[in-house]
Amino acid sequence: MTQLSVKHLLGIKDLKEEDIQLIFETADNFKTIINRPIKKVPSLRDITVANLFFENSTRTRISFELAQKRLSADTINFASSSSSVSKGETLIDTVKNILSMKVDMVVMRHPSPGACVFLSKHIDATILNAGDGTHEHPTQALLDAYSIKESCGDVAGKKVAIIGDILHSRVALSNIYCLQKLGAEVMVCGPSTLIPRHIEQLGVKVEHNLRKALEWCDVANMLRIQLERQDIKYFPSLREYSMQYGLTIDLLDSLGKDITIMHPGPINRGVEITSEVADSDYSIILDQVENGVAIRMACMFLLANHKDS
Ligand code: CP
Repeated sequence: MTQLSVKHLLGIKDLKEEDIQLIFETADNFKTIINRPIKKVPSLRDITVANLFFENSTRTRISFELAQKRLSADTINFASSSSSVSKGETLIDTVKNILSMKVDMVVMRHPSPGACVFLSKHIDATILNAGDGTHEHPTQALLDAYSIKESCGDVAGKKVAIIGDILHSRVALSNIYCLQKLGAEVMVCGPSTLIPRHIEQLGVKVEHNLRKALEWCDVANMLRIQLERQDIKYFPSLREYSMQYGLTIDLLDSLGKDITIMHPGPINRGVEITSEVADSDYSIILDQVENGVAIRMACMFLLANHKDS
């Protein structure tokens, strides 16, 4: 397989295992390149990319921008807070205006699930989903799985527990799809109020006890509580959540086994994970961030070279 089976990167659900393997092989090459003294390649010269962020981001926005610079793309950056969206302009009008300036590729983060799919039906440019509401965050799942492969040797056969606010998490859904396509077993763990009903129909195990989840898994991906998406109280207090589901170094040490700790960020230190754990040898959190640049370079490079067959 030399090209992706998809024209856009809207979600992991649309990808085949071969697509993910091709992205990983391409990311391996780009990771070598970005660790050289001269980090820039001309692969996306004359390609213009618009980064449209309708929701806050640190890692994803900077990582995409850096990946575009490393590939020599021309970029324009749009943040909805400083745009004419605040004057009532619609998503389609905003994007069509930007695209009339001859943009080839759109990277979009939006609070509404399905916003990227909607856009893909109305415009010609290639679209990469940088997170759409509680739906999917495909490049995060790809960099997470790539980091597991790097840390554990392979993804196939590994047991991965995704722990925390599963209900409001686009990272959880994209990770479930990605890890299962690569042959991993997936468990979700959290209070019952933060686990979507019927999630076991996706083929995942469900556990409400943190220690049992940790005893089961090779890799634990800790998610933050997404208070900004919660309109009701799902648990009595952050302190109580932290006592039941906060990952501490004493708990990890008491397991007496190797375990890899991940977090997509942003971290709420002292809530879902202590600083001691986040900064410990168990943690590959900053490796995930580093790998994000190579993964996003690979995704943009492969999509730019996609040809309809
Ligand atoms: N992991 C992640 O998406 O982080 P940001 O919201 O900072 O982009």
